[in-house]
Amino acid sequence: MRTGVCYYPEHWPEERWATDAAHMRRLGLSVVRIGEFAWSRLEERDGSLSLDWLERAMNILHDAGLSIVLGTPTATPPRWMLDKYPDMLAVDAQGRRRDFGSRRHYCFSHEPYIDECRRIVSILAERFGEHPGLIAWQTDNEYGCHSTSISYSAQALAAFRGWCADRYTDIRQLNLAWGNVFWSMEYDSFEQIGLPVGTVTESNPSHQLAYWRFSSAQIRRFNRAQVEILRKLSPGRDILHNYMGNFVEFDHHELSRDLDIATWDNYPLGFLTRDSDDAEDQKLFLRTGHPDSSAFHHDLYRGCCNGRWWVMEQQPGPVNWAPYNPSPASGMVRLWGWEAFAHGAEVMSYFRWRQAPFGQEQTHTGVLLPNGDDDVAAAEIAVLNRELDELASLPANALTGNTVHPDDRIGGHASTVQSSVAIVFSYAGIAMQDIQPPGGSGYSSLDFCQRLYGACRQWGVNVDIVSPQAALDHYRLILVCTSTEDDAPLVEKLEAVRREQQPIIALFPGTGSRSSEYRIPDELPPGQFARLIPVRIVRSESLPLRTVLTASDATGRYLNCARWREHVNSPIEPRMRFSDGWGFHYEQERIHYINAIPDDPALRSLAGEWLQQAGLPCRDIGPLVRTQRIGPYRLAFNFGTQRVDLDKHLGPRLDFHHDTQVLIGSRTLDHAQVAVWVVR
Ligand code: GAL
Repeated sequence: MRTGVCYYPEHWPEERWATDAAHMRRLGLSVVRIGEFAWSRLEERDGSLSLDWLERAMNILHDAGLSIVLGTPTATPPRWMLDKYPDMLAVDAQGRRRDFGSRRHYCFSHEPYIDECRRIVSILAERFGEHPGLIAWQTDNEYGCHSTSISYSAQALAAFRGWCADRYTDIRQLNLAWGNVFWSMEYDSFEQIGLPVGTVTESNPSHQLAYWRFSSAQIRRFNRAQVEILRKLSPGRDILHNYMGNFVEFDHHELSRDLDIATWDNYPLGFLTRDSDDAEDQKLFLRTGHPDSSAFHHDLYRGCCNGRWWVMEQQPGPVNWAPYNPSPASGMVRLWGWEAFAHGAEVMSYFRWRQAPFGQEQTHTGVLLPNGDDDVAAAEIAVLNRELDELASLPANALTGNTVHPDDRIGGHASTVQSSVAIVFSYAGIAMQDIQPPGGSGYSSLDFCQRLYGACRQWGVNVDIVSPQAALDHYRLILVCTSTEDDAPLVEKLEAVRREQQPIIALFPGTGSRSSEYRIPDELPPGQFARLIPVRIVRSESLPLRTVLTASDATGRYLNCARWREHVNSPIEPRMRFSDGWGFHYEQERIHYINAIPDDPALRSLAGEWLQQAGLPCRDIGPLVRTQRIGPYRLAFNFGTQRVDLDKHLGPRLDFHHDTQVLIGSRTLDHAQVAVWVVR
């Protein structure tokens, strides 16, 4: 793994660039991302280009030995662009224009703006596409950030009507597919179709789902317009985009088909204070981030581009945008680096080099303080880089044939992550549950999926998070928790792996509960998934937050569920029953149907049972320590405040023996500390 940093040469005097580049190298950084917001400096007025400064900056960075990622500046159309196209702004659900004065103010459906993007990308690729320092392009920046995935502009409406005409050909087909006879919502022509917003009460969920699919496709189309140019004019350079955390507003699996590398922006403390409503977690992990937060996304994005992934932006200290912005515990910057290594990152890059004393993010820390002195992250990054080099030069590598030069480690690393557990992750399935949340107000299927992931990680196993289209034949435990869509190809694939490899397969509430057009399947949920296990959902109920339903068996064993329960008809005797007699947990020939949302202890116990049945080495390591295997190594991370003895905590089941030699760190882990060793 290499490390890098996000740099904005246009923010600093040119005389400083060489000093910065040399200092980056001193800290061990070898990748630098630049340019993604620089449009107003690259083209001050329409057609008046100034590219020389960027060339000088690239030369300085390259001469210092840094590999460059150049961002296309399309997330920040300059002010003059609006004079040209006043209607290019995105429009929000309330009909307000998303005005100039920050960023991401364009609408994905504005064709003249897409042409402007093609133009600037062509200019940049022609000039810099074969620069010797350039290794990759980043398209735009964080598609969808600041709620920009969906726009309700006139252009979007026109494009949506065209998209519907292509998809349904005949308006009667659309009426039928969406069930528009309900409330007399039928249309006579595609020109009558409106946007699923501003209706008196909720708009038709089929209409909402179609608009989600359309918006997701528009983002992919927007991205592809740039990719096509870059492929032609900048051969041999990787193309990547920086995705976000806890963000599912468009189908990342689809967009990733056009990229070489999936990268993402990791702000663990920001995510915790912004996205978690768990007071205990907020307290425990305020300065470390949740132990499953970074790892979940590393594994999710590893599944997007055939294993190739980076962290493009990593939090170095307090950020500016969450409700509260605490400082990370000492050691966390180093730990997050090792964690990315453990999950197969090719690059871990920090945001940003130097804290900006102006603009919206002046309270966002960097590697350097606003005055150019080192901030605290600098020292931890230097240590991380020294240790990475040390590991790369240790005899263990010679033993395993892994003798890659430290500066030439891009590629290949990620493929050495091996997992026997897969979570099948469907962006469309999550969108479907978000449209009419089956667990009631505030229920989040993404959150449930993350809790399920955490339950497995608590047993010390590697987990892959894969798209419904991914090959599943090498997994021994397959968890299907977001496949709301009655997905015939997925069912067929699961039937085939069941025949051939006999893994354990678990289906969770809502699986196969809607057709691709958002209708309840004729044969009732779980639709065709019932070919795997004979269950029929005859009712689905949502429950207030604090209502707990306990299921138990004759031996007195019990599990608690909350939020959402399905009533099941089945010839199979359930493993447990709720007090009102309805069953919980159906199992037949290694296929499980879980018909309610288990709480954390219940999920952990189910995960443990399945992992053991699947014959995978595992052990309950609790909520505070995490471990991951990669290639010849295993790593352990302590997110808790108590010291942990790896002999006792992991033991031989998780590859820690009394004579294990720890290569990085020590046999006991203090708060925010890491250990790395070679697996026997
Ligand atoms: C990211 C974004 C960066 C910067 C950063 C601050 O979402 O890509 O440009 O704004 O957040 O944490």
